[in-house]
Formats: sequence, C-alpha cells, structure tokens
Amino acid sequence: MIVAIDGPAGAGKSTVAREVARRLGVAYLDTGAMYRAVTWLALRDGVPVGDGEALAALARDNPIEIEPTEEGDRVRIAGRDVTADIRMPEVAAEVSEVSAHPGVREQVVAAQRALLASGSWVSDGRDVGSVVCPHADLKVFLTASLEERARRRRADLRARGVEMDAERVLEDVRRRDRLDSTRAVSPLRVARGAVVVDSSEMDAAEVADLVVRLVEDVRAASGAP
Ligand code: DC
Repeated sequence: MIVAIDGPAGAGKSTVAREVARRLGVAYLDTGAMYRAVTWLALRDGVPVGDGEALAALARDNPIEIEPTEEGDRVRIAGRDVTADIRMPEVAAEVSEVSAHPGVREQVVAAQRALLASGSWVSDGRDVGSVVCPHADLKVFLTASLEERARRRRADLRARGVEMDAERVLEDVRRRDRLDSTRAVSPLRVARGAVVVDSSEMDAAEVADLVVRLVEDVRAASGAP
C-alpha cells in the first residue's frame, strides 16, 4: 500500500504523513529530505546551486540513505547524518533551485522509486502522486492558505530553535511556491485522481483522521481486509 501526500510548503504534509504512517504501521518516506540532503552536500562542497550537471553528478555519486524511525526519517549522505542540518535556513533557501534541475530529479526520483518498491509506505512531497508513484493506492493533495502555511512554518522553525521574522517566512514560502510550481520538470500540481484537502481550518490530527478514513475506503473498495 502506497499513500502519496503532495502539496505546497508548510501545508502540514510531514506531520500528517508521519501520523498516518504510524497509525497504519507502515514506513514514512520524506522525499523533500532527499533534495535537502543533496542541497546540504552541494553547500558543503561548494558546488554552485545553478550547475545542474555538477549537482546531478553529486547526487549520483552520493547515495542517500533513509532510515524511517518513529520521529521521522534519519537521513545520511556522504557518510554524515544530516537529519538536523538539512532543516537549516541555508538549506531551505537553496533547495528549490537544486531540486529544479532535471538531472538531480532523475537521480533522486530513481532512489525514491527503489525505496517505495519495497513494502508499504506513506510518502510526502511535491510529485509523489504525479511522477514518482502515479499508481499509488491513495493520492492526497494537501494545501492551506499562504498565511496559514507561513504561520506553521515559523512555529516549526521556532520549535527547532530557529527564530525568523514573520515577513521573511511569508516571503520564503511565497518564493518557494513560485519556484516549485513554475519549474519545467515535475512542477507542483494536483495529480490525476488525487483528493484535494484544504487544511487551513483543520489541525494535523483532523487531517490525519481524514486520510486514514480515505485509506480505509480504498481498502474496502479493493476488497482488502
Ligand atoms: O517538503 P520540503 O520543504 O522538505 O521540500 C524541500 C524542497 O524540495 C522543496 O522546495 C521542493 C522540493 N521537493 C520536490 O521538488 N519534490 C519532492 N517530491 C519533494 C520536495
């Protein structure tokens, strides 16, 4: 069983996806973390974020290891555990540009497909239902208003000890929306057959309840127990 949860930055995808995975007893794959890992390595090694070929080579030569845990995925690249580092604002500022390069996406999507081919997963990102796994059993497009997403992102950063001005977070989310939805390869869009959920007025637990109900509907419709 594959559940794909896509949507814009700050819609609450990872909180919801982690909770749904926990309730279903399956693993969680955070696809954005993989683009963040490549971005982190590019920044460390001084690879320019505009150089698609060099970044694709970097992604090809440095396989990303994902270890699902109760708290989320542990991420390793180039022999380093980068789970915490990939959440830093320096990485967030460059990841949209890095993930827009077709060669980078080719490498990362291949790695994601290999992971998803093994067992049951709940996975979140931008293109899981549209490109990585179009045959997912359930596809959800989770969104919320720009202001609400910026508010959540700021609270999230604060919880990690990073204080950021509200205006700056709003601008960052707006900029990422623009980059993610206008890029040439796999732009953010609602996958065919996806259920659109607007979580502006819902908390994460309510959204998780709804997604679990949708999974139960899919299972019932397919005759699964
Ligand atoms: O969900 P996130 O903020 O960790 O994602 C980081 C970036 O990676 C985001 O700017 C878009 C990109 N991304 C993507 O292009 N495709 C995915 N499936 C997941 C993330």
